[in-house]
Amino acid sequence: EKAGFKHFMLKEIFEQPQAITNTVSGRINLETGEVVLPELTLGADALATIERISLVACGTSWHAALVAKYWIEKYAGIPVEVDIASEFRYRSLLVNDRVLTLAISQSGETADTLAGIRRAARLGSRVITICNVVGSTMTREADGTIYTHAGPEIGVASTKAFISQLAALFLFTLYLAQVRQAIPAEQRRRLGQQLIDSARVIEQLLPRVREQIGTMIESFYACRDFLFVGRGVNFPIALEGALKLKEISYIHAEGYAAGELKHGPIALIDRDMPVLAIVPQDAVYQKTVSNIEEIKARQGRLILIGTEGDTHLRTISDDIIYLPEVHEDLNPLIYTIPAQLLSYEIAVRRGCDVDQPRNLAKSVTVE
Ligand code: M6R
Repeated sequence: EKAGFKHFMLKEIFEQPQAITNTVSGRINLETGEVVLPELTLGADALATIERISLVACGTSWHAALVAKYWIEKYAGIPVEVDIASEFRYRSLLVNDRVLTLAISQSGETADTLAGIRRAARLGSRVITICNVVGSTMTREADGTIYTHAGPEIGVASTKAFISQLAALFLFTLYLAQVRQAIPAEQRRRLGQQLIDSARVIEQLLPRVREQIGTMIESFYACRDFLFVGRGVNFPIALEGALKLKEISYIHAEGYAAGELKHGPIALIDRDMPVLAIVPQDAVYQKTVSNIEEIKARQGRLILIGTEGDTHLRTISDDIIYLPEVHEDLNPLIYTIPAQLLSYEIAVRRGCDVDQPRNLAKSVTVE
């Protein structure tokens, strides 16, 4: 059942290219750039009057929501708020019928997220969900659904569900941009093509990156603390990397926006706490490089993940993992992979129960 893999988590990491393909399949016309989301049931009219989108989720699904905020605001021009469901359900909300609530959940059963959408619905909001489990409670209660079609996810640590949530959210962004006529069809078509192509890119990098990480972990697996940093769309990917490491290896890890380091966390830097930095050659590349040079100047130990051919990074890193260049807004899909594999290999090296980490349940159906 693990198809020759030692753990479900590793199998599911390797299923990610297929998960992207399944999520995107048949939903974008690569000649015209038209996006179709039939189960969404909210057409152009309903979406045209929306003034704000409220994204609600927990854990890894919340990280997907944070990435989507960057995408939706950039391409569809709609203000987006992102809430952790356990906060959303109890804080005072400015939600009404002009706000669209989008719940993101692998299981469709997470108690806080469910309570969040029920509350939003009572306030008059239309509710949609991005969900992996067909027929789950959330999909039954929402006005519309975008299924991720990642296939069953057994490992408690979410991997392929996250990647397919990102793919679904990127599609949803293109759909919003289409109904609101925010970007030209040709740009939508190109972005859709690049989303589809990201599956092949991941397929190619997986074995190579896994092998490289396997040779690196001996010097990291015994660390007590880890920092993950990134900027822009990759800031949530730093949060996700830190969560993955915490969950399955029990190493204390934190994710930060790289520009935030100087406001406190830089005081922690020493040789005992490796910093994994996501540094693709994107719009905020120079800014991120200055942030990591500050870590370097304080003798920090740097694992960099950057763009193939970026030789400058080699001069400042202790370890470097190169990834192919893709459209900068699709980097979150690619840059998630090394952090998943690093967490996995470290957890295995520490003898942890990767698929069933202590104290955790696959689906959190109680408050
Ligand atoms: O099923 P959901 O997506 O609603 O679950 C949300 C979180 O419980 C989940 O993502 C959790 O954080 C994972 N264990 C992360 O790997």
